[in-house]
Parts: sequence; C-alpha cells; structure tokens
Amino acid sequence: MSIRGLFCAVDGSLGFAVIAALKIVLVASETAPFAKTGGLADVVAALARTLHRQGHDVRVFLPLYGSLLDDGHDIIPVEGLSGIRLDYADRSVTCGVSTATLPNSERDDGTALDVEFIDCPELFHRDGYYTSDPDEHLRWATLCRGMLEALRLSDWAPDVVHCNDWHTGLVPLYLRTTYSGVENFAGTRTLLSIHNMSFQGTFDADVVRDLGLSEVQDMFHQDHLAQGRVSYLETGILYASWLGTVSETYAVEIQGEELGMGLDPLLRARSDQLVGIVNGVDVDEWSPDRDTLIPHPFSAADLAGKTRCREALLDRFGIAHDPDAMVVGIISRLTAQKGFELLPDVLPELLEQGRIRLVVLGSGEERYERYFQSLHDAHPAAVGVYLGFHDELAHWIEAGADLFLMPSRFEPCGLNQMFSLRYGTVPLVRHTGGLADTVQPWDMDAGTGTGFVFHDFTLEALAGALDQALEAWEDRSSWATLMQNGMAMDYSWERQSEQYLDLYQRMVGT
Ligand code: GLC
Repeated sequence: MSIRGLFCAVDGSLGFAVIAALKIVLVASETAPFAKTGGLADVVAALARTLHRQGHDVRVFLPLYGSLLDDGHDIIPVEGLSGIRLDYADRSVTCGVSTATLPNSERDDGTALDVEFIDCPELFHRDGYYTSDPDEHLRWATLCRGMLEALRLSDWAPDVVHCNDWHTGLVPLYLRTTYSGVENFAGTRTLLSIHNMSFQGTFDADVVRDLGLSEVQDMFHQDHLAQGRVSYLETGILYASWLGTVSETYAVEIQGEELGMGLDPLLRARSDQLVGIVNGVDVDEWSPDRDTLIPHPFSAADLAGKTRCREALLDRFGIAHDPDAMVVGIISRLTAQKGFELLPDVLPELLEQGRIRLVVLGSGEERYERYFQSLHDAHPAAVGVYLGFHDELAHWIEAGADLFLMPSRFEPCGLNQMFSLRYGTVPLVRHTGGLADTVQPWDMDAGTGTGFVFHDFTLEALAGALDQALEAWEDRSSWATLMQNGMAMDYSWERQSEQYLDLYQRMVGT
C-alpha cells in the first residue's frame, strides 16, 4: 500500500511524496488513556494515533493491568490469541491478547486503531503498574515475548518495532536470539526510545538464568554481569537497530557522564545511530480555542477568554484576585528530577510581597507534597495546591496561569512547557533537555523569544529569571507579544511524527 505523505527535504522545505505505508509496532508499559503515570503514555498514544491516521499499519502493545478491568474500558479477547505459553527457567506463564479501541483515533475512512493488551493476570494484576516484586523481571520479559508471539501467531511482519524505555529493552535481544529464525521478523528493525535515563531496569545477574537465557548469557554486558547485575535498558541499547530519545539536547546530554547515568560510554559508541526527536503535542486535546475542559475558550487573536480562565482558576482555589500579581502554575510529577529544591528560597518572599500567586497540581514524593502543602498553609489566599492527578485541572492551569514554572534538573523532553506555549502561559524553564529545545529566551528589545530560560541549577539563576519575568510582566503590551510568540509555535504531532517517519524509513532502508 502507498500513501501520500508530507516529507521534509534536506534543505528544510516541506513537500508531498508518495511513500510506502509502513508496518509499525509501538510497545510500552503505558498508553493513555488506558494506563498513565507520565508523559510516556501521552507520547505513545499520540504517535500511534498520528501514524494510523497517516495511513500506516500500526499495532500498539501494553500489559493488561488489573485496574483496566475496573475502569470500564471495553476490552475484548482476541480470538486465536489465547493460551500462549511462555517458558522461563523455573516457571511457565500463559498469556493471551485482548483489544480495545484507542479513543479519537478514527481515520477519514472511519477506521479506528485498536490497542492490544498482553493479558497475563498472574503477572499484571498487581497493585500499580510497576512493582518491586521478586518476579518484576518476568513481568516485562512477558510483555516483550507476549508481543512477539502475538505478531508471530497472527503472521504479521513488522517493518519497525518501536520500543519505549527499559520495560521493552529485551525485544531487540529476543529478536536476535529466540526469534532469530522466525521469517516474519527477518526484515524487522528495532528502535529503542529512551524517555528517561534514570530508570534502567537493573536486576541481579541471576535473572539471566531465570529468564531461561543462560545459553546466550555472553550477549549481556559482560563487565556488568561479572559485577552481578544486568540492565534491560543497557541490553536494549546494545542490540536495538537504532536508538532514540525525546529531544535533541537530551540526545547529546546522555552521552555525557552526568546525565548518561552510567550508560554514556555505550551511547557514545553508538552515537551514529542515536537520534533526538522532540515529542509532539496532541492538538485535539491541547488547543485553547476548542478545549472543552476549560471554562472560556480563547485564541491568540482574542485573549479575552484567557483573562476569564485566570479568574475562574483563582476562584476554584479560593485565591484572592489581583490583576498585578502574576499567576504562576506548576503541573508536575513531584520528584527530584523536577528541581523543586530551588523553590523554598525564592517563592516565600515573592508571595509575601504579593507579586505572585501560585497554583500547583502534582503528586509524587512526600517531601515535595509536604512542602507545597506547607506553602499553602502559610499563604492560603495566594497559594492553591491539589495533590494528585486531575486532567481537567491541568487544562484549567494551562489556560489560567500567566507563567509556567519548570526548573527541572534534567528533562528528557517535557510536555507541559509545550502545552503552556499553546495556551499563552509563558514558560520559565531551566536550559536542559527538551526545555532547551522548545523554549527560546525572551528578548524584550527585539520582541523575539517565547519564555524565560536559566542555565545553572542555582538559586541565583532561578531568582534572576523570575526577576526578568516579573519585570517583563510590568509591560503588558510586550508581554502580549511574548504570549503570542509562544502561541505561534507548532509542536504538533502532525509535524513531529514526520521526523519519526523519516527515521523509520532510514531504518528500513538500511
Ligand atoms: C519522561 C520524561 C519527560 C518526557 C516524557 C515523554 O516522563 O521525564 O521529560 O517528556 O518521558 O517522553
């Protein structure tokens, strides 16, 4: 099958070409809306949807977590794909495949994309998606093998298997060992996307025996094996045809010692096959002019709705109105990665001076939850905090805040700064990973730039950027230019997916 696709020529110009439809598998531990703890879930769902709409033949695999059955999704078993037995050294597990429609994935011809779940209750019906149970290594090996078995049994020959994060890191190894003789996979190439180097899936070396892979134990990283450990991410990095990560800057950063987190030598050795592609925004979900979750839609041409969203947001949190106080928003997983250690030294003074209001949505480590709660307790009329996950509230904050704060220590890509740009909520970010790639520093004289950017992970640097933002805020007409610059940026998946297609085509051609 051939389809007409947008392509980007070497000189950067865009054009149309007839390209072959590809058979692409996406496999991950999360896919929204079924299973989500972070950006990975959004990325997998939106990329799959976009590729499907462009006419490619896409299959998405994730585990059938027990919680999905309680969440009211219409998940049905696939005929002919049940009772699949997977043997490990001391244990055999049986799995099947079930399917459900990915919401909002209809093509023009009405065909929706079905997501496939590896159904193995004994491994995936647990509290939470991720566990520290003694058989955690078997859970993710089962996602990889279950997916490969499902493809083999349905006689489907993928061009590309796009793996995501350590949970899927064994796929390239299985293709070179257990499945090396399977004809369907003879032309299959693998891409391993790294969404976060700080999660590597490291286990004791004896899992190699437990997986039933003793015969090929020389394929694991020998030094690390000798030191008694094995890592699924590292194994994926060794054997995937290509490696990807979610921004150009992070692709460079992970080849260095600090953010390579022990795997930088391997990444440097494969730098010719390591590509950084910034994630996209799902514009069906994140567009202020047609967002059904926010109280007053608005656009760059008419920002009246944004002012009303701001008022509604403050009311929702019981925060006192003051048109001169800048409303600062935070939406985040509350983890050490996100850089909140810097805040206690800068925020209280600004709150006391009445120069800012603060709205926080997030959940995670207790120390950060406690910090934001205490900030609210100290400034109840200026700080609103919601600890947890709340999709509608996330939209309200993106729509109603003036400034979005993201001081991350490191950030492979980050999505909220891109949502913020679309909603005229000016991002203030640290110059790292995807934040560096997507936010350009504001230059008041030239009227260019989309946000505020600081470099060093220090209190002084953050305070300096906040000062700069507060100064710019004084001049509302140039602030409007700053907002509009951001709103004009296009990080849609329609655009970003072209880079993946380009890569898939290069992979298939090599
Ligand atoms: C991880 C990263 C984040 C990225 C997301 C999706 O959560 O920490 O920066 O946006 O994956 O790729």
